[in-house]
Amino acid sequence: MGNLLKGKKGIIFGALNEQSIAWKVAERAVEEGAEIVLTNAPAALRFGSINELAEKCNTIVVPADATKVEDLEALVDKAMEHFGGKFDFILHSIGMSPNLRKGLTYENLNYEYLNKTLDISAVSFHKVIKVAYEKDALNEWGSIVALTYLAAQRTVCGYDDMADAKALLESIARSFGYVYGRERKVRINTVSQSPTLTTAGSGVSGLSKLLDYAEAMSPLGNGTAEECADYVLTLFSDYTRKITMQNLYHDGGFSSMSMSHNAMYLIEKGLETEK
Ligand SMILES: NC(=O)c1ccc[n+]([C@@H]2O[C@H](COP(=O)([O-])OP(=O)(O)OC[C@H]3O[C@@H](n4cnc5c(N)ncnc54)[C@H](O)[C@@H]3O)[C@@H](O)[C@H]2O)c1
Repeated sequence: MGNLLKGKKGIIFGALNEQSIAWKVAERAVEEGAEIVLTNAPAALRFGSINELAEKCNTIVVPADATKVEDLEALVDKAMEHFGGKFDFILHSIGMSPNLRKGLTYENLNYEYLNKTLDISAVSFHKVIKVAYEKDALNEWGSIVALTYLAAQRTVCGYDDMADAKALLESIARSFGYVYGRERKVRINTVSQSPTLTTAGSGVSGLSKLLDYAEAMSPLGNGTAEECADYVLTLFSDYTRKITMQNLYHDGGFSSMSMSHNAMYLIEKGLETEK
C-alpha cells in the first residue's frame, strides 16, 4: 500500500490469531514498508496461528514470556541480530487475567491471580521497556505503544482486576516515557481501544452487550481492530515524533459521551420488551 513505515523496524508482541489487534498491526506495518519480528508466549505459539502470520510477513517468530526478563533479553538480542542493529518501534499487545478466566469477581479476587494479572498485563510493559533501554536497542525518535482500555479511568462491569492492570500500564507509559524521552528521545504512549471481538476481549463477561452499547454510544461507532492498527502505525511513523506519555483514545468518541440518541433508543426498546 503506502510507505508510511519505510525503513522502520520493530517488534510486535501479542498476535495470537487473525482476530488479534497485534495481528492487524503486523500485517499493516509490513504493508507500509516496515520490517518486523513477531513474538508471543511459548504456550500461545502452540495453540495460536502466528506461524501463518510470520510467513505472510516474511519474518521470524521468537518465543518469549513477557513476564520473564531473560526471555525478553534473548528476544531483543535476536531481533537486533535479525535487523542487523537497532530498531524503531515496539508494540505491547498483551493482556490476561486468571481471575477473569476463573470467573472470580472483583470482590472475590484471588491475590495470587491478581499478581499474575498485574505481571502479565502491566509490569511486563515495564520489563519490555527496561530491557530495550538497557540494551540501547531503539533508535532515537523510536516509538513504544501498548494497548489499553477505558476501564482504567471509568468503571466497566465485568472488567474487574484488568482495570487495575490497565491503570498501572498507563502509568508506566508516563513514568518510563519521561525517562526514555529525556535520555534517548524515545516516545511511549498507550492506545485505548474500543471493545473488540478477540480472544482476550471475550474474557470480559457480556462482551457482545458491551460492544452493542459502545457502538450505540459512540458518534463514529466502535473502532475496529483494523482501524486501531492504522492508528498505531501513525504512532510508529515520523509524523508523531513529539507525542509521548499520552493515553490516546481510539474509540469513536465513546470516552467523551454520557448519553446518545442511539443508546436512549436501545434502552427504550429494552424497556418495551420487558413490559
Ligand atoms: N479486545 C478488546 O476488547 C480490547 C479493548 C481494549 C484493549 N485491548 C487490549 O489489546 C491487547 C491485545 O488484546 P487482543 O484483544 O488483541 O486479544 P488477544 O487475545 O488476541 O491478544 C492478547 C495476547 O496476549 C498474549 N499473552 C498473554 N500472556 C502473555 C505472556 N505472558 N507473554 C507474552 N504474551 C502473552 C496472548 O498470547 C495474546 O497473543 C491487550 O492488551 C488487551 O487488553 C483489547
